Amino acid sequence: MKLFVALLAVGLPALAAAHSWIVCTDYLENNGWYWDAAKCRAWPRNAKRYDLRDRVFGTSGGFLHRLDDHPEIKPLCRDPRDDATSYELPMAAYYLGQTVVLTHPINNHANDATCNIRSRPDTENLMFVVDGDEDPCCIDSDKLIQIFDMGVSPYGPDKYSDEELSTFPKVGYQNAPKFCEDPEDAMGTYNFTIPMDLKPGRHTFVWKWIRVPSVMPFTTCWEADVFATKAERDAQYQATGRTTEDMWDFYQVNNIVDGVIVDPVVDPIISG
Ligand SMILES: *[C@@H]1O[C@H](CO)[C@@H](O)[C@H](O)[C@H]1NC(C)=O
Repeated sequence: MKLFVALLAVGLPALAAAHSWIVCTDYLENNGWYWDAAKCRAWPRNAKRYDLRDRVFGTSGGFLHRLDDHPEIKPLCRDPRDDATSYELPMAAYYLGQTVVLTHPINNHANDATCNIRSRPDTENLMFVVDGDEDPCCIDSDKLIQIFDMGVSPYGPDKYSDEELSTFPKVGYQNAPKFCEDPEDAMGTYNFTIPMDLKPGRHTFVWKWIRVPSVMPFTTCWEADVFATKAERDAQYQATGRTTEDMWDFYQVNNIVDGVIVDPVVDPIISG
């Protein structure tokens, strides 16, 4: 019994940190190492109110949202939809076929054998769009249309080698290459693709993460204007003072040898 109580006490801080949320809804760098707010050009609902832009990456300010048991008492989304007031930090604009990068804090829920962590589970990482203009009642609603499965990260030393557990990029939640440097607040990224058959117009997007089946899903909601073409999306970003650059992949612009960046691509603006 004493041992059980001791284990419970040790377990609690980890449980208290058992949460995550989407910080950025249109990030410029896929599979990146470190968060940089300057690379974020769109934000979820009420990001300004929760100070998502300026707060230390990984601290929540009440933004995280975990659903409760069925029937859900908590709404599906942390804040009700209100496009007129939720987007003091700008709303995303996407185009059909675009690969969108999302960022989230890792909050201790990853594996990397280089820091001796191998067994932390991941269960489900999905993207939905809402059918219609109203938030659905609950996570199992027929109004949530699944548009992308972002995979499940490898875990378990019995199933995966140390090399596999320490290799990035990874699918699923645990795609956080600098997890061992900062297990609490390291950045994880996902990517998903806007389906070609999505109807252009404004849609609500919903992220759902299940860490373990016994813990209810976490969600983040945001609106985005979806355009048929990149040219139309670019016009929208230009009109709102944002870059029209397409996301790049960290591993395509950096040469990594033994875990160290050896020849970052020279920024033409800095080098003149
Ligand atoms: C995008 O994410 C998927 C997993 O959802 C992964 O398989 C794919 O490699 C990622 N794409 C890139 C360019 O990293």
